[in-house]
Amino acid sequence: MPSLTGSPEFNIDAYLDQRAANPSFTMVEIGHAEFPLPYQQPFEFEGDRRYFGFESWLRDPLGSRLEDLAELHYQHGAGKNITYMYLDPGGVAIKKRPWRSPEYEGSYDPTTPLPAGIADEVVLANVFSDPHVAFNLDRTTKLLSEVSRLAKVIGGEVVLREIGTPQYLTLLSEQILAEAGLQIDARVEPSDEAWGKLEPVYEGERDKENPRTPQPGSFYLFLSKIQPREPFMSDLGSLGLGQTGIDLP
Ligand SMILES: C[S@@+](CC[C@H](N)C(=O)[O-])C[C@H]1O[C@@H](n2cnc3c(N)ncnc32)[C@H](O)[C@@H]1O
Repeated sequence: MPSLTGSPEFNIDAYLDQRAANPSFTMVEIGHAEFPLPYQQPFEFEGDRRYFGFESWLRDPLGSRLEDLAELHYQHGAGKNITYMYLDPGGVAIKKRPWRSPEYEGSYDPTTPLPAGIADEVVLANVFSDPHVAFNLDRTTKLLSEVSRLAKVIGGEVVLREIGTPQYLTLLSEQILAEAGLQIDARVEPSDEAWGKLEPVYEGERDKENPRTPQPGSFYLFLSKIQPREPFMSDLGSLGLGQTGIDLP
């Protein structure tokens, strides 16, 4: 994978503290499979806190793993602001075995029904490195564009956790992130101190019972929206505003 590095100013501890303290925290998870993240957060999804989970069940079109998800929800989440939605991308993984086969048929439209800018956090664990996404530039960019659309323009964070097959992520680059309007705030690797603080928050329930060893090259990426720059005087001039008599500061 091309080297993707973050900004030294982004502070993981401060980020984790502020999300835990946000009384209207809205979390969107894409591709949770049967081990989603809302039941292990340092707060409950009650009051104005909300969780939306989207899954396409690409390799499980008959929904056999839905039972596991339902069980988890009844144990921990009933009555909370936790909503799951099936997302039909318009295509299917055409081979179940070997599951790492990238073969896929049909379109891939990851657009969710949620409004733009709703999410304080959009989280995806091992989705961009899913072979049905990772090896296809069109699917990768469409998914990036959707996660970018969902994130709040100011204060929204996109969290990617890649521990299964991070070596598949050859297409993810700063350029395609930037084309989706995203910039890298931080990259965290298993040897970093922050790793141990992130795993309790973003390592799914099943992983806790049956932990998977992060594969070489595993990482978290924290991404945020590239802020629109302030217009320059020359931009205003080219828009004709310079000739309108408006007093510019
Ligand atoms: C490798 S699994 C990862 C599951 C889990 N998050 C984990 O960390 O192991 C990737 C999942 O993403 C789902 N997926 C891929 N693209 C999706 C999309 N656009 N919307 C919802 N789910 C998607 C697949 O169906 C699959 O269950």
